[in-house]
Amino acid sequence: MNLVLGVGGGIAAYKAAELARVLLERGHSVQVVMTSAAQQFVRPLTFAALTGRKVLTELFPRGSEETLASATEHIRVAQECELLAVAPATANLLARFAHGLADDLLTALYLAFSGPVVLAPAMNTHMWRHAATQRNVETLRQRGHVIVEPEEGPLACGMVGPGRLADPARIVEAIEAAAARRRDLEGECVLVTAGPTQEPLDPVRFISNRSSGKMGYALAEAALARGARVILISGPVQLAPPTGAELVRVQTATQMREAVLERLPEATIVIKAAAVADYYLAEVPRQKRKKSAARWSLELDPTPDILAEVGQLKGDRILVGFAAETENLVEEARRKLLAKNCDMLVANRVEDAFGADDNELTLVLRTGETIQLGRGSKRELADKILDRTLQLRLSLHAAR
Ligand code: CTP
Repeated sequence: MNLVLGVGGGIAAYKAAELARVLLERGHSVQVVMTSAAQQFVRPLTFAALTGRKVLTELFPRGSEETLASATEHIRVAQECELLAVAPATANLLARFAHGLADDLLTALYLAFSGPVVLAPAMNTHMWRHAATQRNVETLRQRGHVIVEPEEGPLACGMVGPGRLADPARIVEAIEAAAARRRDLEGECVLVTAGPTQEPLDPVRFISNRSSGKMGYALAEAALARGARVILISGPVQLAPPTGAELVRVQTATQMREAVLERLPEATIVIKAAAVADYYLAEVPRQKRKKSAARWSLELDPTPDILAEVGQLKGDRILVGFAAETENLVEEARRKLLAKNCDMLVANRVEDAFGADDNELTLVLRTGETIQLGRGSKRELADKILDRTLQLRLSLHAAR
C-alpha cells in the first residue's frame, strides 16, 4: 500500500522511525511528511535514509522553482496515497485536524485527502486528558478516523499515565485493518433505516420515542466510506444526512414500511437500526383536539413489524436487526433474531442506545455465536458491525 506517514512534533517523533521501518518491511511504500515542530526532534534525513524518498516538509517549498506543481504538491500526494497515518499525533495536530485548519503541509494534505486516516496520539497525560483534546479526539472518531489510543506508562516529562505513543506493532495493525476495510463494500447496496417514527394523534400531536438516529446515520456513513451504495430511510432526526446517501425521509411506521418494501429489491444488505413505534392511532382526526377537563383515552393499534416482514422476503440478503432492552439482553436478542428471521441482531441497553454519541453493543448471530463489541463511539461500532456482517455472509454462504 502507498501510504503517507505524518510525523508530529513530540518526543515520540523518534519512534516514528521504527514505525516507518516496520511498514517498509511489510512491503508498504511510505512517504513521510514532517511538521516543522517534528524537525526539532528528528531530522528529515533519518526518514529520507530509511524510506529512500525525499521527506516533505513545506507547503510552499523554499528554494524550489515557483511552479504550480510545487504549490499543489499536497493535492498530488493526497491523490496518490491510499491511507494517511499520523504518529505521533500531538494535541496541536489533533486540534488542527478536528477544526480543519490547513496552515502547513500535513494539515493541508489531511483536508485534501478522502481515504482512511489512522491517528496515534502521544503527549503529556494532562494534555491528553484535557477536555479540549478529548473533544477533538471525539470529533475525529465521529469522522470515521481510527484512533490508536496512547498507552499508559512513564512519560518523558516525568509523569506516569496515558500519553505514550502506542507500540509500533499496534499502529501497524490498525493501519492494515483500516486499509483492508477500504472499499470492501464496493458493489453492495446497503439499506439502512434510522431514527424514530412519529405516529400522529391529531394535526399537532404525535407519539414517538427518544431515538436520535445517530447509530443508523453512523452505519450509513461507514458503509459509504467503504464503497457501498447506501439507501437511508430515516424518521425525523436532527442530523445532517451523510454525503452520497440516497435519503428517503419518512414520518410514520406505515410510511417506513412502504419505503423499505419499495427499495428492498435493490438492497444486498439490510440494517434496521430504526426505533419503529410499536403502536399507532389508525384514524387520525383532521381537527386539533381541544383541551378539556375530561380524560382522553386512546385506542392504539400495533404497527406492522417491518423487520419481521423483511425477514420473510429477504432471500439471499443479509438482514441485521436491532434490539433495545432493559433486561435479559442476549436472551431477548436471540428470541427476536429467530422470530424475525434475521442473520444478526445488534443488542444494546435502552440507557445506552438513545441519544448518546457512544454505545455498548452485543451481537447475536444466526450461527449461534454471541460477540461482545464492547464500548465505543457509534461510528467505530458501525465499522465493527459491518465487519461482522461481511464475515457472516461468507460463513453463511459457505454453509449452503
Ligand atoms: N422493528 C420493525 N417494525 C416495528 C417494530 C420494530 O421493523 N414495528 C424493528 C426495529 O427496527 C428493530 C427491531 O425490530 O430492528 C427490534 O425492535 P424492538 O423495539 O427492540 O423490538 P420489538 O419487536 O418491538 O419488541 P419489544 O418492543 O417487545 O422489545
